[in-house]
Parts: sequence; C-alpha cells; structure tokens
Amino acid sequence: MLTASKECLAILHNMYKNAQSKTHLFSMHMPGHANSNEITPYLNLLLQQHGGSKLEGSSDEHCGFLGNYFPPTGALKQSQEFATNLYGTERTFYGINGSTGSLISATRVLGGPNKKVLLPRNLHRSIIHGFRMTGANIRYMVPNFRPDFGVFDPISYETIKEELEKDSKVDAIALTSPTYDGLSAEIGKIAKLCHERNIRLLIDGAHGSIIPFLPERFPESGLGVQGVDMIVQSLHKAAGSFS
Ligand SMILES: Cc1ncc(COP(=O)(O)O)c(C=O)c1O
Repeated sequence: MLTASKECLAILHNMYKNAQSKTHLFSMHMPGHANSNEITPYLNLLLQQHGGSKLEGSSDEHCGFLGNYFPPTGALKQSQEFATNLYGTERTFYGINGSTGSLISATRVLGGPNKKVLLPRNLHRSIIHGFRMTGANIRYMVPNFRPDFGVFDPISYETIKEELEKDSKVDAIALTSPTYDGLSAEIGKIAKLCHERNIRLLIDGAHGSIIPFLPERFPESGLGVQGVDMIVQSLHKAAGSFS
C-alpha cells in the first residue's frame, strides 16, 4: 500500500509541472535523484520551515539542525540511529558518493596487501577498484549464465564451495545480491560457509534496500544473517531517496 499526505502530493504535483515546463522530463525511476534538480526549492522550503536556510555549502554552517557526519551530530545522528534500529543492524552508517563510496570504504576494511579475496566476475567495478587499491590478492569466480533470462546468475553457493576446496586461504568474499537484473544469491548458505571458515562476507545490496520491508516470500537481503559482515545499500536506487 502506498500512502502520501496531501502536502507530499502537492509537492510532487508542483515538481511535475515545473519539470514539464522546463525540460519535458520527469523521472520517477532509479536512481531517485535522476533529473531531479526541481526538488531543491521544495527541500529548501522544508529546511526553512525547520529553522535552516538554503541548502548550500557546509551543512553545519547553513542548516545547524541537520548536524554533521564526522562525528555524527544533530538530525543526521538521530536519523542514523533510527536507520540502525529500522534495519536491525549493529551499526548503520550513511555514506556519500553512492554505493560506490561505501563499497570502496568496505574494501578498505576487508582488503590489504596480505589479504586474499574471492570475487565473482559480475560485480560492480567499485569493489574491484577498491580491493585493488588496497593491494589485495584477487581471485575471480565465473557465475553461471542463464539462457532462459539471457543474464548471469548471482554467484552460487556451489561455485564458492568449489573455489574454497581449490584454495581455502581466503580472507574475504564479496557478492552482489540482488543483481542488477533482480536475481538473488543464496545468502544464508553462503554466509554459513564463510562464517565456519572465518571468512568475511560483504554483500553489495545496492538494489535491495526495500527487500527487508517486503513480505517473507521475497528473497533475503542478508540483514540479520549470521556470517554477513557488511551490506551496502543504495537508498537512492529502489527506495527513491535524495543523494
Ligand atoms: C550492483 C551495484 N552496485 C553498486 C553500484 C554503484 O552505485 P552508485 O551509483 O550509487 O555509486 C551500482 C550502480 O548501478 C550497482 O548496480
């Protein structure tokens, strides 16, 4: 069920009218920020109503109530704590520069010159870039191709197991679930395998930020699964937030 307040609908309606008259474009697809310059006046209005001024420059200087990231203060701190509870994680951090920025941060934690990482070939380039920057030793796994859909599968439990049988000295594994094409990995089984072998598991769930709120018949996102160490999600993709 989708509900929206009258105020919210009025804002959307105005955005639509403005966007149409200027660019003839009004995107309501992912990412949520695409072609949405028109949102700024309305966001500014909201900020002014809450005692801030225009959304320019440093958030601390101009919109004191928004707070800061380093260390988290104000509304940002509150919101991060709310998100931690909502997603049921040990800690949830907001990132900047998209999932790319957060994935690179995650690789800085998991990688390093003496680390061995196992990566499926069909994953976002930020993970490869991030691990390479740390000097980690990367071994690639090839996912199965699905002729019925004409796309690659997420990496399978069986492929990971086979790779670990060839060489078990692995420090971290990263995988994408759901994939760009909407297919999900068997996260529970893979996480158990990793946990038993003390291997860190990073999930690129960039497209899965709303999965935890969907009915149970949807595949798992990895949240709350023992053995999943970090998940990166793009609220600005499926959840339509600003970025
Ligand atoms: C699976 C996956 N991971 C990460 C990213 C990077 O996301 P962002 O554009 O937010 O940096 C993308 C972008 O499309 C993606 O499809």
